[in-house]
Amino acid sequence: MRELIDRLEREHTLKKEEWTALISEKADKEYLFAKARDVARQYYGNKIYIRGLIEFTNFCKNNCYYCGIRRDNINVVRYRLSENEILDCCGRGYELGFRTFVLQGGEDAFYNEERLIKLISTIKSRYPDCALTLSIGEKSKESYQKFYDAGADRYLLRHETADKSHYEMLHPKEHSFENRMKCLWELKEIGYQVGCGFMIGSKGQTAECLAEDMIFISKFQPQMVGIGPFIPHHDTPFAREAAGTLESTLYMIGLLRLLKPNLLLPATTALGTIDAKGREKGILAGANVVMPNLSPTKVRKKYELYDNKICTGDEAAECLNCLNLRMEQIGYRLSIDRGDPAEEPGGIKCTT
Ligand code: 5AD
Ligand code: FES
Repeated sequence: MRELIDRLEREHTLKKEEWTALISEKADKEYLFAKARDVARQYYGNKIYIRGLIEFTNFCKNNCYYCGIRRDNINVVRYRLSENEILDCCGRGYELGFRTFVLQGGEDAFYNEERLIKLISTIKSRYPDCALTLSIGEKSKESYQKFYDAGADRYLLRHETADKSHYEMLHPKEHSFENRMKCLWELKEIGYQVGCGFMIGSKGQTAECLAEDMIFISKFQPQMVGIGPFIPHHDTPFAREAAGTLESTLYMIGLLRLLKPNLLLPATTALGTIDAKGREKGILAGANVVMPNLSPTKVRKKYELYDNKICTGDEAAECLNCLNLRMEQIGYRLSIDRGDPAEEPGGIKCTT
């Protein structure tokens, strides 16, 4: 498999059968990780970008089978932060050193176009040196455009899976694979820096599905890809499904780094949840972003997409020092800036 890994590094693309073979065998792991780290270092040095994650509402009109805050879960204590509470989170985050805020939430009708536009423009006028990322699901192109015009810079919308029939296994009929994809292309057309992504080990996922994800990503060329293991939530239809593994997640991180060298690749909270050193291992497999939680402590446990989600340990924003120490232990350091993508391959690389 080394030849395939070498070719991926050189050509940034593989055929579907080649992806499938690599992904199902997960061969030559350490060889892959060493290359992935090397490539990340060429583009980003030893810098790890941080994003302050504000989970501002757990009301959600969607009903994804895997997700703990799905509409039909009547056991969730629903909350939404007020505009002032959100601004307080940004204030706290700014003091701590965050220069990117991520507003993430369920698809909540209360936060309509008008309220969101006001919120976005207030945040951008108070913190013009910060990037603002939205992660609020599927909207119309017109709304995406208005949010962009109000100052939003980036948008995260995981595609969840690039295989339509797999998508239909993960979602009830009311969700549309085509619309998900349409949203992603529209975000890109508008000019957002876009992040897509998928879970590892979700029900029905095969090596072929993951190969489709890689092919989609080479076509779509997102700036960021968020991946993490599927972790069951006890109050969902997938409560009894097995979780995705650390091993497969790390392998996919390594492959993504070689597929697109300047990709922003987070070591996600889900990865930190299945393994106490998950995020460090993610970085050593090629990731270069971490997203500490900036939400008020009182609501953190309520944004429970899956069981045992970590939220009050040193992954939280208050403990940036602990996180920095963890990064230093593996030879990296947190970077206090917006954390935009490095130049495309062929452009200027980091020489430090
Ligand atoms: N396990 C892991 N990730 C999950 N997500 C939702 N539910 C789960 C779960 N049970 C991910 C989805 C979604 C993102 C916000 O969180 O990929 O897009
Ligand atoms: Fe779809 Fe939460 S309901 S990801």
